[in-house]
Amino acid sequence: MHNFSYLEEILTNLKNDGLYRELREVSSAQSPLSTINGKEYIIFCSNNYLSLANHPRIISAAKKAIDKYGCSASASRLISGSMTPHLKLEGNFAKLLSKEAATLFTSGWCANQAVITTLPQKGDILLLDKYDHASIVDAAKESPADFRTYRRENLSKLEKYLASSKYNRKFIVTESIFSMDGDMANLDELVRLKEKYGAILILDEAHSLGCMGKDGAGFAQERGLLEKVDIIVATLGKALGASGAIVAGEAIVKEFLVNKSRGLIYTTAPPPSNSAAALEALEIIKGENDRRERLWKNSDYLRRKLKEARFNVGKSSSYIIPVIIGDDFKVVEIANRLFKRGLFVPAIRVPTVPRGEARLRISLQADHTKAQLDMLLDALVEIAN
Ligand SMILES: Cc1ncc(COP(=O)(O)O)c(C=O)c1O
Repeated sequence: MHNFSYLEEILTNLKNDGLYRELREVSSAQSPLSTINGKEYIIFCSNNYLSLANHPRIISAAKKAIDKYGCSASASRLISGSMTPHLKLEGNFAKLLSKEAATLFTSGWCANQAVITTLPQKGDILLLDKYDHASIVDAAKESPADFRTYRRENLSKLEKYLASSKYNRKFIVTESIFSMDGDMANLDELVRLKEKYGAILILDEAHSLGCMGKDGAGFAQERGLLEKVDIIVATLGKALGASGAIVAGEAIVKEFLVNKSRGLIYTTAPPPSNSAAALEALEIIKGENDRRERLWKNSDYLRRKLKEARFNVGKSSSYIIPVIIGDDFKVVEIANRLFKRGLFVPAIRVPTVPRGEARLRISLQADHTKAQLDMLLDALVEIAN
C-alpha cells in the first residue's frame, strides 16, 4: 500500500458519477483540423477563435524574439524578468483598452488572482456573477473582502448589495462573454449601477478580446463603454493565439499590483516570445477584419441550424455554443460517439456547470468551414436528437 491509496477511492467515485476526466495528446498545431492521439479530428473545443495560434506571422514574430531574447524570462517580473517585448505589449494594451497602464501576467488565472486578492481590502465586498469563471471565484474565496454572487438575468440582488452601507468599497466582477453559456453580460446596466453606487467594475474579457469592438479591444469597446470599465482583465491565450494575460486600469492599480500581487512577484515572467506573438496578433487583428466576420458568420449559422434541429443552445449569442443535454453520463456518451466520428466536442459537467445542466460546449473558429459545421450538425442530429 502506498501513501496515495486514499486518492483511489475519490477517483472511483468520480468514475461512478460520470465525472472522471482524462488528458489527450494533441500532436499538431491548434487549428480546426488537429491531430489527437495520432488521428485527425475536427476540433470544436479550442479557444483559438480567430485561428491565429499557428498564423505564420505570429510564429515568425515569436521565433525572432527567441533569437533575440532566448526562450525564458528566467526571473520574476519584479527581478530581472521584465523584458522589452513585455513592456511594449503593456504599452500597446494600455492604448488599445483606453487605460493609463497595463500589467502583464503569466496567465488569466494569475491575473484574476492578482486583481481580486490584492485590490479589495477587509471591509470591502466583491459581487460576482453566479457563473463567473473558476479563476474569479477561487480568487474571491481567498480575498480579504467578503463576496456574494448575483444572477445576471435579474440584477436586483446586485443592486441590494450595492445599496448597502455595510461595506467600504464594492467591486463588481463579471465576464463579458460567459465561458460556458456563450451569452453576454448586461454591461450597460452594470455600468449604470456601478456609477449610481460608486462601485468599481472589473471586466474579464477572456472570450471577447480580439473578437469584438472595432479594433478588437473586446466587448466594452463594442458597447462603447471602454472608459467606463475600471479594470479590464484579458487573457492572451484565446483569440490572440499566444499566452499570458493583461490587467488594464489606472496607473495606481499597476503600481499597487507590482508591489503587492503575489501572482506577479512570485512567478517567472512569461517567455518574451509570447509577448512578441501577442504584439503581432494585435497587428493582425487591426488589419484583418474578415477573421472576426468569418467567426461571427460561423456562429450565426451553426446556432440557427442547431435551433432549427430543436437543440437547446441556452442563452448563447456568440461563438461559444452549448448544446445542453442535462445528464452527466449521457453527455459523455454523446461526446464519445462524436469523437469516434472524428469530431472533438468536450462534455462539460459538474462542477464546471450546475448539476443537471451537463452540456456539449462547442467553440468555433474563424477557419472552420461550412462543410465542417454541417458535419457536426449531421452527427448531432443522428446521435443526440
Ligand atoms: C473567463 C475566464 N477568465 C480567465 C481564464 C483563465 O485564463 P488563462 O487560460 O489565461 O489562465 C479563463 C479560461 O481559461 C476564462 O474563461
